[in-house]
Amino acid sequence: MMKGKRILLIIGGGIAAYKALEVIRRLRDRGAAVTPVLTRAGEEFVTPLSVAALAGHKVYRDLFDLTDEAEMGHIQLSRSADLIVVAPATADLMAKMAQGRADDLASTLLLATDTPVLVAPAMNVRMWDHPATQRNIATLKADGVRFVGPDDGAMACGEFGPGRLSEPMEIVAAVAASFGAQPLAGRHILITSGPTQEPIDPVRFIANRSSGAQGTALAQACLGLGATVTFVTGPATVPPPTGAAVVRVETAAQMLAAVQAALPADAAIFAAAVADWRVAEAGAAKLKKRPGEGPAPLTLIENPDILATVSRGENRPRLVVGFAAETHDVLTHAQDKLRRKGCDWIVANDVSPATGIMGGTENEVTILRADGTTPWPRMTKDQVARRLAEEIAAALG
Ligand code: CTP
Repeated sequence: MMKGKRILLIIGGGIAAYKALEVIRRLRDRGAAVTPVLTRAGEEFVTPLSVAALAGHKVYRDLFDLTDEAEMGHIQLSRSADLIVVAPATADLMAKMAQGRADDLASTLLLATDTPVLVAPAMNVRMWDHPATQRNIATLKADGVRFVGPDDGAMACGEFGPGRLSEPMEIVAAVAASFGAQPLAGRHILITSGPTQEPIDPVRFIANRSSGAQGTALAQACLGLGATVTFVTGPATVPPPTGAAVVRVETAAQMLAAVQAALPADAAIFAAAVADWRVAEAGAAKLKKRPGEGPAPLTLIENPDILATVSRGENRPRLVVGFAAETHDVLTHAQDKLRRKGCDWIVANDVSPATGIMGGTENEVTILRADGTTPWPRMTKDQVARRLAEEIAAALG
């Protein structure tokens, strides 16, 4: 994990600087030591006191702070870390880095270091798109600097597009990845994904529009953090993750049996869109139209609730996560599911057609837990997956 790793965190200016506080907290939760450096512009957005309190460490601010030079010169400060993280990195700070300027503490540290550097940019979309910024990014990448983000989305300035600072958990995941950390190593994660198909007869079935994209992304993210993944999937349209033990099923009953066979697990994530009902007596032969008799009557019976069964079962994983895909009153329904199904977290989202989420590449979720409800901004399904995998790793400890 990150235990004992020393991270020098440079906090640049910008409205997103407040997220750096959460980054500090999350890094320390994982056992990393954080030495904070606050730029002049950064100080306009977060106070040195709150940064120092969260880091449990003095904040370095000024190049010409003689006490610091006596205690620890900037050369030593820049080299005493295992990783330098710049979050948020402004367009200006990146320009300085690309040019090798050293006119304040942050830029001097970045020039003096031989430590790997991870940059999390945050700026207005026009500044991000500007050829000068893009040139600087190319230069920095060529120099070996690694990037996390920026994300796409609505920004504080009211514009929309790339430029938003990555979410704290994504930055933490990028830090972990740069140490080759595998916080889910040795953990078994069970994931259900995709739709189920409930036969009407040998050629017809009841199904839904789930593509399996979010479940697959989750499996990939958990694998990326070192987990062993059992992936129980209905007939999805996206290919299953590579590296997981894939169990293909069609019906809800088969999915329940496959899930129970895969237990025990440390955590289970129920991302499948399970059909609520099946046809009571699916025809053994194709149903035929009978002129004058009207459509064949279909009697539906309820399918087992896999999530509720596992949440209340003997072999319950330590962490059980359900999804709630809703088209209206999202939070009310999700809260009800959290209680009714006996799981630990519900990942709720609005899948009404206007959102473009069902079958699309993006998702906008809210996480409901016993200790509170947290809305996440709209991001790609891969980003939701990475962040959720990090949260799961944190919860499993
Ligand atoms: N789920 C399940 N087995 C079922 C139905 C749902 O495991 N038979 C799981 C889903 O994988 C998801 C959660 O329960 O994690 C919520 O699924 P959803 O379809 O939204 O809930 P339902 O209980 O079916 O409620 P409703 O259809 O009324 O919205």
